[in-house]
Amino acid sequence: MIVGAPKEIKDHERRVGLTPEAVKAYVAAGHRTLVERGAGLGSGFSDAEYLAAGATIVAQAADIWAEADLIVKVKEPLIPEYQLANPGQIVFTYFHLAASEELTLAALESQITAVAYETVEENGALPLLKPMSAVAGRMAILVGAYHLASPYGGSGVLPTGVEGVAPAEALILGGGVVGQNAALVAVGLGLKVTILDIYPDKLKYLQGILPPEIDYGLSQIDLLEKKLTTADLIVGAVLIPGARTPRLVSRAQLKLIKPGSVIVDVAIDQGGCFESSKMTSHSHPVYTEEGVCHYCVGNMPGAYARTSVLALNKVTLPYGLELANKGLAKALAESPPLARGLNAYGGYLTYRPVAEALDLLAKYKENPLGL
Ligand SMILES: NC(=O)c1ccc[n+]([C@@H]2O[C@H](COP(=O)([O-])OP(=O)(O)OC[C@H]3O[C@@H](n4cnc5c(N)ncnc54)[C@H](O)[C@@H]3O)[C@@H](O)[C@H]2O)c1
Repeated sequence: MIVGAPKEIKDHERRVGLTPEAVKAYVAAGHRTLVERGAGLGSGFSDAEYLAAGATIVAQAADIWAEADLIVKVKEPLIPEYQLANPGQIVFTYFHLAASEELTLAALESQITAVAYETVEENGALPLLKPMSAVAGRMAILVGAYHLASPYGGSGVLPTGVEGVAPAEALILGGGVVGQNAALVAVGLGLKVTILDIYPDKLKYLQGILPPEIDYGLSQIDLLEKKLTTADLIVGAVLIPGARTPRLVSRAQLKLIKPGSVIVDVAIDQGGCFESSKMTSHSHPVYTEEGVCHYCVGNMPGAYARTSVLALNKVTLPYGLELANKGLAKALAESPPLARGLNAYGGYLTYRPVAEALDLLAKYKENPLGL
């Protein structure tokens, strides 16, 4: 196959679909790879590294969309990319189709084959989502700690504390991948950490795998309100798969939080855990309401592009190679996790939750390849 990695065009997106190491693997398997000039620079990979790995560097994205059988990206394709795409072209990337009817209709009209990272499912887990949640969780504490500093509008509480002065308190809502990774960094920096989750079994499991100094509680209104009054840094890390994030903290409850405290609502990409949360960007990441700093960036891992791309390629490469080596039909037939990733094919939606979320069941076809 011809495998291509165009430069991402989404605002401030510095990640890239293929690392030079991944290119080497595709080339070793007999595939030709095309990489757009400068596509890896934002993640610290030069064109020379791609060339050395065996890629052909092409001048513009259009050259890749014109030739490649398999396009490997990071972010969802945008309208200018759909205008370049060809029917049947396999696009392997995050799509998050349910979040945009406009982009979903563009995907259907272009008749691309959309294999979405976020729905590749193995044993009930989403392996291609996990590394980005791990990055965002770890980052949540770092950006939260930064914004606690007085010059950035924070309360001036040094997260680590210092001899004789207590550290900051971190409250983590949701003990999944984001929550666990946030907790690890928070404990490492010396913060006092509490995790709230709705499942007692989950809390028991976390007690077994995380450092012993963490406190746990069931996510219920009394405890939540009590914790809000003392927290310096609050991480929103709740997810109910396929649904909008439940709003755990209303505008009225926001008043319980100390002025100068910081909310990092990682779950903003699914709607956010706070009624006061609204999506922000890396160029303008924070705003203040009721004296509380809100950080609500929807693509947090883009800020640490190098680590994110290395982590992402580790998990996407085996699936990408399977698609390239076997071709679409055989790869999907032999890999149920990859088959779960198929979101659109031949102008139809093939992933039912997306069709339901967008009220597009008329455009839904189950198993269009007859697998
Ligand atoms: N902003 C970003 O850049 C970014 C990056 C990565 C992930 N995310 C988002 O972060 C969110 C969390 O992702 P994850 O991978 O940790 O999900 P996950 O499924 O691993 O964890 C979610 C946790 O929330 C818990 N939960 C559900 N309802 C709850 C409630 N009412 N109170 C407390 N806990 C509750 C679940 O039991 C689960 O433990 C998702 O919305 C994900 O899309 C955002």
